[in-house]
Amino acid sequence: MTLQIVNEQVEKYMRGLLTRHDDPVLLEMEALAAEKHFPIINRHVGVTVEILARAIGARRIFELGSGYGYSAYWFARAAGPGAEVHCTDGDAENAKQAEQFLSRAGLWDRITFHVGDAVTAFNGVENDWDIVYCDIDKHGYPEAWEAARDRVKIGGMYICDNVLWSGRVAVDDRGDERPQWTEAIKKHNAMIAKDERYESSILPIRDGVMVALRVAD
Ligand SMILES: C[S@@+](CC[C@H](N)C(=O)[O-])C[C@H]1O[C@@H](n2cnc3c(N)ncnc32)[C@H](O)[C@@H]1O
Repeated sequence: MTLQIVNEQVEKYMRGLLTRHDDPVLLEMEALAAEKHFPIINRHVGVTVEILARAIGARRIFELGSGYGYSAYWFARAAGPGAEVHCTDGDAENAKQAEQFLSRAGLWDRITFHVGDAVTAFNGVENDWDIVYCDIDKHGYPEAWEAARDRVKIGGMYICDNVLWSGRVAVDDRGDERPQWTEAIKKHNAMIAKDERYESSILPIRDGVMVALRVAD
């Protein structure tokens, strides 16, 4: 059994408040996701990560799992001109599409896109980050957190999508096709909750967004 975290009508109501962001490139990216059943973070979480990034003045952002650039659209807007937003994806086709979309949106100037394994790319780039955002295949979540946790600046954030995984982290799903992904997300969430260098909480919007603010060395 899986759960819709936010009541469908409430979700629709909240989405209806976000129409002023209807820029043609964004609408095209959202239409593509709907057509291809591609799992983007979608509008509500997009606006939320933009708010988080703006709130801490994030200028160096590393995304693990960028797809064709939808989440990067929000981070890149927040970070502003001259910022550094690194994207990663295993699929070169996604990188090409991201370049097309984000160029048209006037945001490509601040993007570096790495094609290949996200955590390997992250480990290959030096320096610390204002935000590390994770949205890779879920069995990789514990490794992503382990790679990121010492490299988020104090005052910076680790943000991760799908941490409630349609409720499977809390409710026994006998039909779970990927129990190892559910276990990995649970391990990831528990590790973050225990880390005293971070203040963390899960925003129960869409599929659950982990927000962990680094407060200590
Ligand atoms: C959920 S989608 C990301 C969507 C994107 N964050 C957004 O909201 O627009 C996950 C993406 O990460 C990529 N991916 C999954 N695991 C990966 C890994 N270990 N390394 C690099 N890319 C990965 C997939 O190819 C897919 O495009």
